Amino acid sequence: MTISGQVALVTGGSRGIGAAVCRRLARDGVAVAVNYRSSEGAAKSVVRDIEEHGGRAITVAGDVADAGEVGAMTEQVIRELGGLDILVNNAGVSQDALLYDMAMDAWLDVMRVNFGGVFHCTRAVLPHLMAKGAGAIVNVSSVMGERGWIGESNYAASKGAVNAFTRCAALEAARFGVRVNAVLPGFVPTDLVSALVEGDGGKSIRKQIPARRLGTTEEIADAVRFLAGPESSYMTGSLLTVDGGAAAVLGAGRP
Ligand SMILES: NC(=O)c1ccc[n+]([C@@H]2O[C@H](COP(=O)([O-])OP(=O)(O)OC[C@H]3O[C@@H](n4cnc5c(N)ncnc54)[C@H](OP(=O)(O)O)[C@@H]3O)[C@@H](O)[C@H]2O)c1
Repeated sequence: MTISGQVALVTGGSRGIGAAVCRRLARDGVAVAVNYRSSEGAAKSVVRDIEEHGGRAITVAGDVADAGEVGAMTEQVIRELGGLDILVNNAGVSQDALLYDMAMDAWLDVMRVNFGGVFHCTRAVLPHLMAKGAGAIVNVSSVMGERGWIGESNYAASKGAVNAFTRCAALEAARFGVRVNAVLPGFVPTDLVSALVEGDGGKSIRKQIPARRLGTTEEIADAVRFLAGPESSYMTGSLLTVDGGAAAVLGAGRP
């Protein structure tokens, strides 16, 4: 069994970590559906890049927070790419605020996209993988789902839900030959965290990371590629931390 020739749907594939995942999978011969919500131009440029390197890719528009749109985009991928073997639940947003000041929309939107999106896409894709008796689902979660951060109660709760969901989905899917795992990135400079690294260029965050640097989108994509492929065939229900050691720190002093 090789990953080459398989078909993957990557949600939020237009930018940041998702775009790196699309390129990484395509490099190993996977046909990739690049999902986006609003950045059509960016998604098209990921597809162009993949095609220029000899790969196969399409763009797929759809809001993962909308179950109807997710159903339609799943059918589109199967129709246009001839099947579906891998789902990467990567689309995510943040709307940081202190709890006493958090607007109801900031709470609900983050839950709808980060957790609702994982649920909708898994529910739409899982029956296809179960029917084939094979497949891999990789959720791009966050170390924040297992740790705390001031101003991110909505984001951390959404990722904690994704982590719990990953374990439960893995239990249900295992007997059908389908694996469900999660990658928990630490800090990676993308549009999502630009506000956190503004000002000091991320210096104060870097100081708290044992590796003394932020991660790269490619390092996260490598971990996703590992969990999507046969090299991780005995792994399911796992939460794989990729964070330069950040989550290993006790936090009571200098590591
Ligand atoms: N960067 C980090 O430090 C970090 C750390 C831990 C975990 N993560 C997780 O990694 C994932 C990717 O984050 P990123 O840093 O690459 O963020 P990003 O650069 O802001 O990209 C987010 C991607 O998600 C898509 N998206 C957002 N809402 C969507 C929706 N409702 N439906 C479909 N697509 C949607 C965006 O599409 P459009 O371009 O169309 O808007 C974009 O492609 C997220 O789940 C995030 O929580 C990131």
